[in-house]
Amino acid sequence: MPQVTNLADKIEKQLPAELVAFIKQAGELADGRGEKIYLVGGAVRDLLLDKTNLDIDLAVEGDAVAFARELIKGKGGKITIHRQFNTAKISWHKWSIDLAAARRESYARPGALPTVKPGSINDDLFRRDFTINAMAVGLNPQTYGHLIDPYNGQKDLGDRLIRVLHEKSFIDDSTRIWRGLRYEQRLDFQLEAATLNLLKRDISMLYSISGNRIRYELECILQEELPEKVLRRAGELGVLEKLNPSLGGDGWLAEKYSYARQMSLPHKPPADLYMALLTYHLTDKEREQFISYLRLPKPAARILRDSGSIREKIKELADAAMKPSSIYHLLYGYSPQVITTGIIADDAEESRRNMRLYLNKLRSIKPLLGGNDLIQMGITPGPRIKEILNKLLDARLDGKVKTREDEEGMVRGWTND
Ligand code: CTP
Repeated sequence: MPQVTNLADKIEKQLPAELVAFIKQAGELADGRGEKIYLVGGAVRDLLLDKTNLDIDLAVEGDAVAFARELIKGKGGKITIHRQFNTAKISWHKWSIDLAAARRESYARPGALPTVKPGSINDDLFRRDFTINAMAVGLNPQTYGHLIDPYNGQKDLGDRLIRVLHEKSFIDDSTRIWRGLRYEQRLDFQLEAATLNLLKRDISMLYSISGNRIRYELECILQEELPEKVLRRAGELGVLEKLNPSLGGDGWLAEKYSYARQMSLPHKPPADLYMALLTYHLTDKEREQFISYLRLPKPAARILRDSGSIREKIKELADAAMKPSSIYHLLYGYSPQVITTGIIADDAEESRRNMRLYLNKLRSIKPLLGGNDLIQMGITPGPRIKEILNKLLDARLDGKVKTREDEEGMVRGWTND
């Protein structure tokens, strides 16, 4: 990869014209305010890699909130402010642009959120996770496009290496362990040898991080193109077992994730589906540990629990002669997402066929007659109505009735008994 010192051309080529104009205006505004502004983090890394990345992070040596307010004036965008962190998010047209004050960070104890003080762009780069993410590009007119790369991030990009900035990096913030694996696998890079050793040394520091933060990292992984690569690598290095000792990132998972992608087309599989497959073979107790450690929200926890319970029921579905009404009753109450998990995870062709039948057809079948029709036919309102409707549903599922008259005839047969 040829080394460059000015990224103006790359910005021009890779970002949409509207965004280029926006960041140029930001540079001019900074000049007017006597401040400096920079493009930072992943956007710089991806410019150098010629990869499209429209997540724009800007760092201001100054007051980011006041800056963002002035920048958006007359443009009609929306702004969300976090005064306490001196950050602002601008939503403008279809773009979202994050602004933060350049900062210095220190860690009171491992795993704690950092204490933040205003700082220079160099301070701001030093607080970052990896050399490839610790570069900035000047946006003020005088320095427009200038690359700031104090830790040789550009060289590491060329050598395809993930390298921390200092040897306490994973101790300060061990979410970087997961982040490192995510970048390594996404970019097809390697953890640089000393970084790999530090990572291994500091794996147990993962316990110093709150479950919420770990969940966020896992969700980021599950949004990658191929999350199974990250999970496999995490398995190899003993990182995955820190989520739960019984988790495996083996070939089974790779096969099932690929199947999940096929089933979800044209979309990406939802994170819950990937997570349900990851935890599919856990025992109930292990699954509950996973749910409470990661503080999974109720809907996600339910999908995981139901996926565990459907696994037990699926065994009964491996029967080619099973009546549709029996399939219906076995699967009734499970959400389509949980049944999809079952279809992907189970290996018995017959069970899969029966689950597909339920998902695509049986679950939307209803009798043609309703409660009022039965009352009009002379049946006394009460529990008997529900009972008859259930029997009619079974008859319809099993193809014993087709028309309304068939149903009426069947009801008469039952009530004349
Ligand atoms: N960062 C960090 N340590 C963390 C989280 C973030 O140093 N624990 C820094 C990195 O410089 C990173 C930037 O903050 O590039 C922005 O974070 P994020 O949006 O998570 O990373 P991106 O690099 O933009 O990642 P992605 O490509 O996955 O969006």
